[in-house]
Amino acid sequence: MTISCSAGNQEEMTLQKQYRQGKDIFTGKEAIPAMISGHQARLPPQVARCINCHVPDKSGVAKKESAPSLSSAWLQQARTRRGGPAFAYERENFCKTLRSGVDPEYVVLNRAMPRFELSNEQCLALWLYLTEKRDDE
Ligand code: HEC
Repeated sequence: MTISCSAGNQEEMTLQKQYRQGKDIFTGKEAIPAMISGHQARLPPQVARCINCHVPDKSGVAKKESAPSLSSAWLQQARTRRGGPAFAYERENFCKTLRSGVDPEYVVLNRAMPRFELSNEQCLALWLYLTEKRDDE
């Protein structure tokens, strides 16, 4: 199979754009509505920034803290929460978790983790940012 060069570049440029958007959301440059479970009021954008609580860990090592540093290994390697069944994140269940505050095996996350209202596009951007390594790191 031959891959056309320009098509490859196009794809790379789209990925790069999505990755940057993911970074903007993570660092709060692009705000997304967020709430604490059980509360009606939205959190102020500066409180809901992912980076306030999480580190986007590019080391590739899975670590556990109260708000875990979010590396591709931490997200994508199967593990358990509080003795529940094993799970790993992929794009769809990652988005579900961000929206619902419930992990893929239906274990409710700590209330400190807000619930986010984000589009599929924004979620994909975040997923790419957290799971891919790119030049601008
Ligand atoms: C105010 C602090 C706070 C903010 C802001 C926050 N989180 Fe969290 N997040 C947490 C805590 C604490 C946990 C751990 C919950 C648990 O283990 O029960 C968590 C858990 C998670 C998990 C689940 C990880 C796992 O181990 O299953 C993901 C994914 C996640 N956060 C992504 C995000 C993203 C993306 C954003 C921004 C859009 C964000 N968080 C913003 C505190 C926060």
